[in-house]
Amino acid sequence: MNAKIRSLLKELTLEEKVSLCSGSDYWHTQEIKRLGIPSVMVSDGPNGLRKQDLDNAESGVNTSIKAVCFPAGVNLAASFDEELVESVGEAIGAECQAESVAAILAPGNNIKRSPLCGRNFEYYSEDPVLSGKTAAAYIRGVQSKGVGTSLKHFCGNNQEFRRNSSDSRIDERTLREIYLKTFEIAVKESQPWTVMCAYNLVNGVQMSENKRLLTDILRDEWGFTGLVMSDWGAVRDRVRGIAAGLDLEMPSSGGTYDSLVAEAVKSGNLSEEDLDRCVGRVLEFVFKAAEDHDPSVEWNKDEHHLLARKFADECIVLLKNDNRVLPIKSDEHALFIGGFAKKPRMQGGGSSHVNCIGIDSVLYAVQGNTKITYEEGFSAEDDSYDDAKFRHAADAAADADKVVVFAGLPDMYESEGYDRKHMDLPQVQNDLISAVADVNPHVIVVLENGSPVTMPWIDKVEAVMETYLCGEGVGVATARALYGRSNPSGRLPETFPLRLEDNPAYIDFSGDCSAIDYREGIFTGYRYYTKKKMPVLFPFGHGLSYSTFSYGRITADADKMRDDETLEVTVDVINESDVPGKEVIQLYVEADIPNTKVRRPVRELKAFKKVFLDKREKKTVSFILDKSAFAYYDTDMADWYVEPGSYKIEICRDAETVIESISVEVTPKKKRRPVYDENSVYKDLMEDASARKIAKPFYDKYINGMLKMQNTDEAAAEAFGTDYEVFLNDMTLRSVVNMSSGYITYGEMTELIGRLNKQH
Ligand code: BGC
Repeated sequence: MNAKIRSLLKELTLEEKVSLCSGSDYWHTQEIKRLGIPSVMVSDGPNGLRKQDLDNAESGVNTSIKAVCFPAGVNLAASFDEELVESVGEAIGAECQAESVAAILAPGNNIKRSPLCGRNFEYYSEDPVLSGKTAAAYIRGVQSKGVGTSLKHFCGNNQEFRRNSSDSRIDERTLREIYLKTFEIAVKESQPWTVMCAYNLVNGVQMSENKRLLTDILRDEWGFTGLVMSDWGAVRDRVRGIAAGLDLEMPSSGGTYDSLVAEAVKSGNLSEEDLDRCVGRVLEFVFKAAEDHDPSVEWNKDEHHLLARKFADECIVLLKNDNRVLPIKSDEHALFIGGFAKKPRMQGGGSSHVNCIGIDSVLYAVQGNTKITYEEGFSAEDDSYDDAKFRHAADAAADADKVVVFAGLPDMYESEGYDRKHMDLPQVQNDLISAVADVNPHVIVVLENGSPVTMPWIDKVEAVMETYLCGEGVGVATARALYGRSNPSGRLPETFPLRLEDNPAYIDFSGDCSAIDYREGIFTGYRYYTKKKMPVLFPFGHGLSYSTFSYGRITADADKMRDDETLEVTVDVINESDVPGKEVIQLYVEADIPNTKVRRPVRELKAFKKVFLDKREKKTVSFILDKSAFAYYDTDMADWYVEPGSYKIEICRDAETVIESISVEVTPKKKRRPVYDENSVYKDLMEDASARKIAKPFYDKYINGMLKMQNTDEAAAEAFGTDYEVFLNDMTLRSVVNMSSGYITYGEMTELIGRLNKQH
């Protein structure tokens, strides 16, 4: 807190302070004219600026000014390209700056737990590293323009169903390794100006009052220095919110809570220090925004539209391309089918919905090309059947060299505010794709959807191109990819399961009304499918190219490391084809520790890089790995810990397919410090060398006593009919006392536990 803010805090009345911690309306912070405290405006994102149209007196909070619609969050993650995402952030930041928006309410950084979450299109990935790094790049881009971001929705907001009242019950390890990890990376790497707390509860505590998450972890552990604002209407008890570290209530609740907060300060229920801390952060944000505001910035709509196309090129994922049916050759007769060719779905519904400048449909992009014909077949608006249109399209398919069906999810299928009911495309689309494939062997399906769909026709079509929700440049970008004027380089940021029932969160997704148990734990997405060796439709990280890439041997600069050191890993990647293209190098780590006591995924993504390779070009790519590549969150230690042992570092085609691998021995600098208690078991104590020394005599005393009671070794073995050592493994200290018929006392055990824990 600087001197100016400290002196303002002295001048502000209690009522003024309280009012500053709540918006002045839907989008603005409170102004205090007499002290020169300005009001600043925030506006939605993430895939473009959604700023309320203030100049239009008629407009409500839902009418927004014209802006460019860039690819959705899922697309940005699919690019696997931090530089590209940063450029998207820069473009959006420039629009915000020019429109006097202090901070954009983005990026959306929640983990995709189920394909059904209605907001999956806004979010990045099922993997926290890909998600966190994408968010960090977006934040860097926007903030480089002197505009803030609001990293949202912190945290545990992985569904829309009852999002205001649901309680996400997540065990500590899962929280740390998956649901917090994505935020931790974004905060530590890019320090967003603001963080938005989620609507829901986490482990029984409303996020807007969750001191452990908003202060102890976000600020004290991760070093976040910005402002925490509420999601719109997420406040329940503002007094508790302020004490927990919620600085700004949004939007204004019209003063409803102001008097309660002032009362609480007067009565001593809320310390003025807590309030001042929040006010201080609001002031820091407001002044920073005002200082960084540059009214001279302009942006050019046409240029940004071209950027939207360019960004879209990089996010398209080619899922299948049998017999190299793609790219389509210019002299081939292509029949385009589907309402989405005319009216693309290129963004999702809800607070992220941008009032677009102009939308490229694919039909617009190919207009004038006489080798392309079009049949609508089905509407993009809904899931209705039009028999005549269906028949026309199916009949026309036989005559074309190639058929491209533009399929996808209509707006009403996925949106903020509700979850999807199933994972299927409208039946009419599935039926038409099948019917077309019955009469033409060269069918290409282009998909426009925000999250995975089932593909019952997958074996009947030659190609599938996933464009997700590609922004307003979608049509031109899709046409370029179909005709080989660009080369698809996106990779799936999520698994496409064969069926919804395979998803690890399938049973618990919506929970029992409001309690959502994350029972699958750390095994989200590919962590689950690979562990269960389950076949999927397309694995995480999958994506094809028109180029062919190969890899050289992976090398590391050491074969042993301590976890406070770093390791450099290098690999050559080669474009074996005459088609220039981009490859995504995916690096995963697999713990190769046979007797591990820790449940671990088969492998986890730890780093990735996208590189451009000209035809026949070779490049060397390297990664620096540190402790975070090997550690798991140890709940006994309440810390990250690297189990000593061997780890495989793998360059993979996708989460299932290892191309190259190398092993490294890692030892922890700090020994694991388990805390022993009466429930500690023999095996754990014997495996810990220093605990063994202390605990062995205790168990020996017990065994000897038992043997005495049984007279001989053989008699004891016989009496139990078992391997006595193994039998003993799970025996707790407490049960030793209980079973010893009094010759070992509770006092002895307590004294032993004291010595065990003191050894550290
Ligand atoms: C959404 C946020 C959004 C806010 C303001 C909320 O309903 O969850 O993502 O930023 O509204 O529109």
